[in-house]
Amino acid sequence: MEILMIQELSTPVIQTLICSLRESETDGLRFRHIVKEITRFLLNEALKDVALISKDIQTWRGVESYKIMDQSSYVVVTVLRAGMPMLESVMETLPKINSGFLAIKRDETTHKSKLFYERLPDCEGKTVIIVDVMLATGGSLCDAIEVVKDAKAKRIIALNIIGAPEGLAFVQNTHPDVDIFISQIDENLNENKYIIPGLGDAGDREYNTPE
Ligand code: PRP
Ligand code: URA
Repeated sequence: MEILMIQELSTPVIQTLICSLRESETDGLRFRHIVKEITRFLLNEALKDVALISKDIQTWRGVESYKIMDQSSYVVVTVLRAGMPMLESVMETLPKINSGFLAIKRDETTHKSKLFYERLPDCEGKTVIIVDVMLATGGSLCDAIEVVKDAKAKRIIALNIIGAPEGLAFVQNTHPDVDIFISQIDENLNENKYIIPGLGDAGDREYNTPE
């Protein structure tokens, strides 16, 4: 069995961007913009070693062959709501990749995640990139991974912005074959299973939803 790889990409640029996410006065537009920026860094890191194919293109010097990713081998799957700007970011960078949507919501009292709706393209034999901003208990990501595994993905990669050690350990134990690229691992979870220090409710912050 493959060992799960958790890679934290907490570079100075990313720490600076995450500080803006933590700031209460950052509005939804700026928040979503930063989430998209960080997603691009994570995507680049996650896919830096993937196989390439050759493409013949017309250039100013005639037809030449260059290496590109085969975008048809990839699917991006977002966990609603917070993962939406991350999906937009991936699709702005790789506009030909197929996308899927999972509506997963944590119960406010039990903090357990529940899947309400799924809409996935064909994932069989593909590399599926699951995107979500927060990885708290890890329940939502595990739900998403299970759906994507049922859809026969060949490889699963998760991109997350902020996570808690407890949740990462839970995902690691439950799905040791999934690679996680995360920009910041925070301290822990509080009694309401919110990430500390975290940034509050990511979906609310992105879309200016009052508590
Ligand atoms: C948040 C977040 C993750 C989930 C993480 O979503 O966007 O999906 O919580 O928590 P977990 O690791 O403990 O499962 P939430 O359920 O609040 O829905 P929302 O995006 O609509 O706010
Ligand atoms: N979901 C969020 O949006 N924030 C947290 O801290 C935990 C779960």
